[in-house]
Amino acid sequence: MATNGEGKQSQQIKHQEIGHKSLLQSDALYQYILETTVYPREPEPLKELREITAKHPWNIMTTSADEGQFLNLLIKLINAKKTMEIGVYTGYSLLATALALPDDGTILAMDINRENYELGLPVIQKAGVAHKIDFREGPALPVLEKLVEDVKNHGSFDFIFVDADKDNYWNYHGKLIELVKVGGLIGYDNTLWNGSVVAPPDAPLRKYVRYYRDFVLEFNKDIVADPRVEICQLPVGDGITLCRRLK
Ligand SMILES: C[S@@+](CC[C@H](N)C(=O)[O-])C[C@H]1O[C@@H](n2cnc3c(N)ncnc32)[C@H](O)[C@@H]1O
Repeated sequence: MATNGEGKQSQQIKHQEIGHKSLLQSDALYQYILETTVYPREPEPLKELREITAKHPWNIMTTSADEGQFLNLLIKLINAKKTMEIGVYTGYSLLATALALPDDGTILAMDINRENYELGLPVIQKAGVAHKIDFREGPALPVLEKLVEDVKNHGSFDFIFVDADKDNYWNYHGKLIELVKVGGLIGYDNTLWNGSVVAPPDAPLRKYVRYYRDFVLEFNKDIVADPRVEICQLPVGDGITLCRRLK
């Protein structure tokens, strides 16, 4: 194994110098993925919800269709039954999850804004999956604190998707690591944060992007050092870091 100076130097080699390719180099390529692989397979209720959400002024917040497809498949792959979502907005990722779960599967869903959830709710109801969802309006952290107080909840969740206030990700992690089962998954969304994680300090960034960037950078550093999880960061959507609980 390479050590000290030699090891450090090899880590600094740029991916292009050893032929590693980044796939997503253009909007056209992303559009190709959506039109070739994602939209033709997007379930009708998700399409309807995506179109409703597109008309909402905060539509930039929605989970992308390719990420929804990824979550849906992931949940089936791990046979998840009991899940949690922090950050619902109009419910695209929530519906992608609900459609993937078995009929007796559950989602504890939290958001400070019920109004946006209610925009998508009729579509969720029409899809016949509303019975899987326990929506709680309000900040997620106090709910997690309450759940952790009861040992019965420890290690009880198969899958947790976090897509809310980035300045709380590390606080969420402290609780979620107790609530997810050993071998279960937590997905943290937006860990590439509009690509701003590699922007120079003086880059012109939108105010909210700049505000949360330091929290995302800090979270990315902390999660990689957490021995309780194995991780993988995927460039899907705005970047999703999957964490599998080890102990
Ligand atoms: C990026 S959006 C979620 C997108 C959603 N996953 C989707 O599929 O469209 C982030 C959401 O987090 C919610 N949020 C912000 N702070 C929160 C908090 N402390 N607790 C719970 N939800 C919060 C916001 O109201 C917003 O709806």
